[in-house]
Amino acid sequence: MSMITLALSKGRTAKAALSLLKKANIIFPDFTQSSRKLVFYNEDKSIKMIYVKAVDVTTYVEQGAADIGIVGKDNILEAEADIYELLDLKFGQCVFALASLQKTFTPNESTVKVASKYPNVAKKYFSEKGINAETIKLNGSVELAPIIDMADYIVDIVETGNTIKENGLTILDEFEKISGRLVVNKASFATNTEDILAFVEQLKAELE
Ligand code: PRP
Repeated sequence: MSMITLALSKGRTAKAALSLLKKANIIFPDFTQSSRKLVFYNEDKSIKMIYVKAVDVTTYVEQGAADIGIVGKDNILEAEADIYELLDLKFGQCVFALASLQKTFTPNESTVKVASKYPNVAKKYFSEKGINAETIKLNGSVELAPIIDMADYIVDIVETGNTIKENGLTILDEFEKISGRLVVNKASFATNTEDILAFVEQLKAELE
C-alpha cells in the first residue's frame, strides 16, 4: 500500500471534514486547529494530510501534489480544474446565490457589474442568461459591494442568509447546491486505483 496525500481545506468546514475522517478511523493525532503545522500523518502513516487554503485544494490535486482533496463545491466550480469529483461528503451545505439591493432581477443594461469571491462562477451564470458580466474579484465581505455602490449584484454562497439580510440585500436567485466534496487527481486515480477507491469506500460507508 502506498501513502496517499490528502489536501484538506482550512476554514469553516475543516472541523466537519476531520470528524468524518475520524468516524472512518482516519485520525491525525498531531492535529489541532491552532497548530501552525501544515503536514500531518495518520496513525499508520498510510495518509499524509496537508492543511491548505480552500481556494488552493484543487490546485494541489490538479498538479498531483495531493492525490485526494476535500473541498467545497464552490471552490471546485470556480477553479474549473481537470480533476475527478468522486463523492459528496454532505457537510458544509449551502447554495450559490445572486443577490442585490434591488428587489427584482431586471437588468436593463447590456453589461452588469458583479462582485464575487467566485468571478468565474458569476461570469458563467450571467453568460448562460445571455448577459455580459463585468466581475470584480473580492476575497471576502462581498455583501459590502452593492452597499457602497461598487457593484449591482453579488454572487456568493449563502448558508443561513443572515449576512444577506443584515446588509439589506435580497436573494434574487439560488442556482447551485454546495457541500464538501472528495476530489481526486486523474493520474493518481489511474495508477493507485485500489487504494483511492478503498479510501472513497471507507468514507462512503460513514455517510450512509
Ligand atoms: C461566507 C459567505 C457569506 C457568508 C454566508 O463568508 O461569503 O458572506 O459566509 O453565510 P450566512 O448565509 O450564514 O450569513 P465567510 O463567513 O466565509 O467570510 P468572508 O466574508 O470573509 O468571505
